Amino acid sequence: MTDPRTEQAPSGTTLIDQPVTRAPGRPLDPPAEFTQLREEQPVVRVRFPNGSSGWLVTRFDEGSQVFSDPRLSAKRPRHDTPEGEVSEAGEDSPFDVGFVFMDEPEHGAHRRLLAGRFTPKAVRTKLQPYLEKIVDEHLDAIEAGPETFDFVQAMALPIPCLVICELLGVPYKDRDGFHHATEAMMDMARSRAERDAGAHWLIDYITALVAEKRRTGDTEGILAELIAKADDEESILTDSQLIGLGVLLLFAGHDTTAAMMGLSTLTLLTHPEQREALLAEPAGTGAAVEELMRYLTIVQFGLGRVAKEDLELGGAQIKKGELVVVAMNAANRDPRVFENPDTLDLDRKMVRHMGFGYGVHACLGQNVARAELTTVLPRLFARFPGLRLATPLEEVPMDFTGTNYGVRKLMVTR
Ligand code: HEM
Repeated sequence: MTDPRTEQAPSGTTLIDQPVTRAPGRPLDPPAEFTQLREEQPVVRVRFPNGSSGWLVTRFDEGSQVFSDPRLSAKRPRHDTPEGEVSEAGEDSPFDVGFVFMDEPEHGAHRRLLAGRFTPKAVRTKLQPYLEKIVDEHLDAIEAGPETFDFVQAMALPIPCLVICELLGVPYKDRDGFHHATEAMMDMARSRAERDAGAHWLIDYITALVAEKRRTGDTEGILAELIAKADDEESILTDSQLIGLGVLLLFAGHDTTAAMMGLSTLTLLTHPEQREALLAEPAGTGAAVEELMRYLTIVQFGLGRVAKEDLELGGAQIKKGELVVVAMNAANRDPRVFENPDTLDLDRKMVRHMGFGYGVHACLGQNVARAELTTVLPRLFARFPGLRLATPLEEVPMDFTGTNYGVRKLMVTR
């Protein structure tokens, strides 16, 4: 490695610094240092931006092994547990994230409490009509507004917020509060105290909302369903897990999709020929969204796994208790799995990618995210065929420090 930052790392350890930036003029490509690691040291000992040590995996096959090997556990210490401050790439949590930190069979039992609301059928029948209505309303508002506007504020943020509010039964009027708290919690450049303050805001918010729903007997939405499940005597769901799940769904459900919607729009704006082809053949939208998920891979680091025993991975010797993190953005551009991986190909025939994670912990909300993206993107460009960037690409402010990669602002002209 020629990166000067590695020189400061303890011997044999590569230092992953924050922010992890992208090569100049190539904001849609993974950090060059990850690409280089993938080719030279696919499983490498690193120190993460928060100071903890572990292993970073940058190839697809080794990465998918991390997510499927039962010797690697999703149970990680939380920083408020007696285990102390140990955590991975900024992902430890002051709240109980329940099944995200569980292994089988406990993980599956808890995930099934929610799974029915996230099947393709449930999304198609219950969410899709609402989604189409709100997307069209936002397109109307854009048409009635100024010619140049910020796509993030006009669409990429409000649509996922509305959707998660509808799904969970959270009042949309509270969106500024929960979005700003999420932003603080997910920003790896902020201090531990600021990030925790964001998390505690969300915990207090969901705690109050749960109490309110219990008081009024409200039965609308996933939160109310979870309350009923937690209140059942036979329930496996504790109150702290109920609050944790509410927090998880609220932030995971809107922040990721907003980041993906903004970045996908920027990508289509900078690939006009592929955008035209997609508009001419809307039946290909589903495949196009999968390719965008692969190409952009907005989750900067997958959640870590901890070795339950000594094991070998891609030639490296991992010791019991060590943390392993997959750089999914580099893995999703692995030339061993994807032909011409750095080329966006909206027609790509693809069997699998890691944009929603992999294995049993793969994203629970992926069908919701797919529905949002496949509804917004074709409608946006069909309504405004001349949509273009209002600033040069180099001036689009990218979010390098968020847990999810994206655009902070996307000024466009219709
Ligand atoms: C484009 C948008 C999204 C992206 C890129 C994304 C990405 C991911 C990834 C990479 C994971 C796996 C983490 C791991 O294994 O370590 C994950 C898990 C999860 N996601 Fe998403 N997500 C998105 C949208 C959503 C939405 C809309 C929701 C909820 C409505 C959601 C809820 C969850 C939950 C609950 C998990 C934990 C699953 C488990 O541990 O079993 N996500 N997501």
